[in-house]
Amino acid sequence: MQVLGIETSCDETGIALYDTDNGQLHHRLYSQVDIHVEYGGVVPELASRDHIRKVLPLINEVLKAAKINKDQIDGIAYTSGPGLIGALLVGASIARSLAYALNIPAIGVHHMEGHLLAPMLCDHAPEFPFVALLVSGGHTQLMEVKGIGEYELLGQTLDDAVGEAFDKTAKLLNLGYPGGPALAKLAEQGDNTRFKFPRPMVDRPGMDFSFSGLKTFAINTIAKHGDDAQTKADAARAFEEAVVATLMIKCRRALDHTGYKRLVVAGGVSANVRLRCALNELMQSRQGQAYFPPQEFCTDNGAMIAYAGAQRLLAGQQDSDLTINARARWPMEELNIAERQINIKTED
Ligand code: KG4
Ligand code: ZN
Repeated sequence: MQVLGIETSCDETGIALYDTDNGQLHHRLYSQVDIHVEYGGVVPELASRDHIRKVLPLINEVLKAAKINKDQIDGIAYTSGPGLIGALLVGASIARSLAYALNIPAIGVHHMEGHLLAPMLCDHAPEFPFVALLVSGGHTQLMEVKGIGEYELLGQTLDDAVGEAFDKTAKLLNLGYPGGPALAKLAEQGDNTRFKFPRPMVDRPGMDFSFSGLKTFAINTIAKHGDDAQTKADAARAFEEAVVATLMIKCRRALDHTGYKRLVVAGGVSANVRLRCALNELMQSRQGQAYFPPQEFCTDNGAMIAYAGAQRLLAGQQDSDLTINARARWPMEELNIAERQINIKTED
């Protein structure tokens, strides 16, 4: 089965073709960074307009690379939420129209389920069950995952998502947009003994997070110690250390709680090298294993949507009607098999 994946939830247009029989994958990604950089963040209307320009040319490029025609596609998976509603509607409208024209099934995919399953695109894919740490620009969640569509939320952020905390702190340090990778790069030059930032909420039981205070800590540190290059690098390092240590402590709790030996880490922040090293070490010390997506599929991409959609299409699911499905908000628990709600209406 050849499944076309379309991702347009934010500032990246991702298109991929996934073949369920041999796992073959062709994909293209177009990042809108150059468009949003002068505004210091994503401008939703500009994002939607650019997705309109890019989706069809990228689909044609992917089909050409895969050497197949449109009529050889067996199904279309598109991100139907959560994300920017206008951006989502672009992918959803094109996906739905194309599926209608080709008379093939379409399925709306949850963006975070796409991230969650991205490590399956590795040669050494994790088996179920596992603990998943989802860390992106909009979400920070610890989940117990027993299978596709069997998700239990163990903890989540009460305020900023980890990626958001990276981005906001980077902005305060004048590192521009996108901030996460820039802050991580600056932290490499930082001295890890100079400042120690708090590990939020680790003294309380449970697996929830709070990251909004760390950016204030960073700005106060700069205000007190100066905004020279070394102080900024040292603050960036202390920020990153605090985030990684906090995530590690909560992952340990989730592993203790479930008794699982496998930890899947996904979402944009799973590209962070220090986080990957720390969680690899954690799992080694517990005789378990950490799994990450391939580096290129940590941040938004079409491959994860094609893969997640393919699994759901193989399980017999598809959009039940021709409604164009897009949801700005969409709790992941609604994906659970028992309370499945794949067929949803457009809402904001
Ligand atoms: O998953 P993603 O591409 O988009 C969302 O679904 O939100 O995640 C983007 C987030 C951004 O906040 C970005 O700053 C962060 O992931 N990010 C990183 C790194 N690479 C991306 N944060 C820390 N270190 C990185 N290397
Ligand atoms: Zn994402």
